[in-house]
Amino acid sequence: MNWSKFSRLVAPSILSADFSKLASEVEEVEKNRVELIHLDVMDGHFVPNLTMGPVVLKSLRPTTKLFLDCHLMVDQPDQWIDPFAKAGADCITFHIEACQKPLPLIKKIKSLKCRAGLSLNPNTPIEMVIPFLKEVDLILLMSVFPGFGGQKFIEESYSRVEELARHQKEHAFLIEIDGGISDENAKQLSQLGVNIFVAGSYIFKEKDRKIPIDRLREAIG
Ligand code: DX5
Ligand code: ZN
Repeated sequence: MNWSKFSRLVAPSILSADFSKLASEVEEVEKNRVELIHLDVMDGHFVPNLTMGPVVLKSLRPTTKLFLDCHLMVDQPDQWIDPFAKAGADCITFHIEACQKPLPLIKKIKSLKCRAGLSLNPNTPIEMVIPFLKEVDLILLMSVFPGFGGQKFIEESYSRVEELARHQKEHAFLIEIDGGISDENAKQLSQLGVNIFVAGSYIFKEKDRKIPIDRLREAIG
């Protein structure tokens, strides 16, 4: 995939897909020329929901060439980096709220040949991630409180993107946004500097996934 600050990419989140036929759900979005798939990993502690572990990723890996973007919403991310890297993750993102010393984790993820991301909840100040911008490959801004798909986009996220995007002049990280993304907010977010647009319910609630994917692509330019 094209990893550049000029990229504008749609990342379907399989949290809203039908888990009884995950491989064909992924195949369908792959047919519609998306380049990455977003996997939401929840441990029932960091967020009040439980989803998938590395075994799901391992089964999915041989079924697709897509870039597998793993979003760890877990309390102890250090325990999960090795298992997810071994299972075939291309990018591993963990939450700054779940980790006192992010730097060794970022370095570990990179040493396992994965892209490394750091995520922030909507109420975590952007300044918390500034010291790590020269080390990370991406910053994932949550535009809802993590835990569930289908929530409403938090409007304050626009100014948070703006604040973060100022640092892209100096550092080569990408900005990913996650939560409540649709064709209504994607255009403005793209203009402000978002590179990767995670969308779950907006894509998977439609029978024909091509329609929402095309709409998003048109919005983000
Ligand atoms: C929420 C997850 C999201 C979720 C987005 O905790 O991190 O990735 O799947 O779902 P939508 O697009 O429905 O808000
Ligand atoms: Zn996510």
